[in-house]
Amino acid sequence: DSGYITLDSGYMNTGSCTSAITYLDGGQGILNYRGYAIEDLAENCQFIEVAYLILNGELPNYEQLEQFKRDMRRFALLHEDMIHFFDHFPPNASPMSILSTMVGTLHNFYPEMDDEDDPYGGITVTTARLLSKIRTIAAFSYKKNIGHPLVYPNAKLNYVQNFLNMMFDRPNMPYVIKPEVAMALNKLLILHADHEQNCSTSTVRLVGSAGVNLYASISAGINALWGPLHGGANQAVLEMLELIYADDCNFEKYIEKAKNKQDSFRLSGFGHRVYKTFDPRAKIIKEACHEVLGALDIQDPLLDIALELEERVRNDAYFQERNLYPNVDFYSGIIYRAIGIPTNMFTVMFALGRLPGWIAQWTEMKEDKANARIGRPRQVYTGHTLRPFVPMHERK
Ligand code: SDX
Repeated sequence: DSGYITLDSGYMNTGSCTSAITYLDGGQGILNYRGYAIEDLAENCQFIEVAYLILNGELPNYEQLEQFKRDMRRFALLHEDMIHFFDHFPPNASPMSILSTMVGTLHNFYPEMDDEDDPYGGITVTTARLLSKIRTIAAFSYKKNIGHPLVYPNAKLNYVQNFLNMMFDRPNMPYVIKPEVAMALNKLLILHADHEQNCSTSTVRLVGSAGVNLYASISAGINALWGPLHGGANQAVLEMLELIYADDCNFEKYIEKAKNKQDSFRLSGFGHRVYKTFDPRAKIIKEACHEVLGALDIQDPLLDIALELEERVRNDAYFQERNLYPNVDFYSGIIYRAIGIPTNMFTVMFALGRLPGWIAQWTEMKEDKANARIGRPRQVYTGHTLRPFVPMHERK
């Protein structure tokens, strides 16, 4: 009678769920995938090894990893009929819209077979296929965006090298894959691989709970990630740093604008729904920035701008009171830029990294038979109480 609804248990009715994939502690700045610290995984693993861990629950042994890598090579090609789709996107089509469209239509070319073999005891062929093909779709969308010929996957290259080659190789100018570039991208993909019930992952779970196939559920997650308050923030950070740089490094102007909430302006790359301390991923990415730019001998003024902005924000009471620290998006764009990835592809990179987490969370939701109900968040009603109907002639 208080007008409030008692929220019953079960996924999405209380806006939460149980999960055994990722643990994060927002107060301590801790992030573990299947019990392993991201610091250890980012330092010692290949992305595809961490993808296996997140999907399967255990780190792969040598044979399992070799088999997984073989499948990444086996499934890298796109159906030739799919490639014609790229010809029909407008030239300025956003790579994120291409990605969500193409991933959503994979179902028409590679329908999931319930009895499909499951060579890893937890990772289906559909999952391996999607993990491999999203990389090809992403690279092809970039090539189409810049009007260059497509570069097909090369079975001699590993997961990250293949992506870099499909992105940057050209018939007239072969691309040389620098180890430090591949290592930096590998680390970034690992750090984005899962993050418990964030906006896009909750979207994948909610859409999947209606019985939607994996590809369409992931396509929904890609669209949720696109938002500048979520995965789109990495692109917004670079645009903000470029703005400050072009504005004679007038930091105070933008800091005051954020503090005054002028035009709802926020400092992109700062703050987090859960972390109320330094995002552990941001710490690793910040260090990687220095490593990559040093190895490539790049002096990027935007890194200096980012460091100065972080310093000023960290010493400002307004941001301290609100526990606003750099998050995963604050420094990642500096590395993408150093690698040669354009800002309109930054959120695509986030999606590539996040895919194993989305798939694992979708699968976990599907397998949770006890709560296998359609997600149905509830509300607290704040509208009119019941009132008599008003015929047209009496309306004002
Ligand atoms: C990701 O959930 C995840 O795990 C997401 C993610 C993942 O891996 O999936 O970690 C990836 O999305 C990282 C976040 C990327 N987004 C941004 O960097 C956009 C900028 N940040 C914000 O808009 C904001 O911090 C959010 C959206 C990230 C979090 O918002 P909250 O927790 O809902 O915070 P809030 O809106 O309640 O703000 C609390 C206060 C407000 O001021 P007051 O009303 O108390 O006066 O802090 C202020 C806000 O105005 N504030 C900011 C700010 N973020 C919050 N002020 C200036 N700049 C900011 N960035």
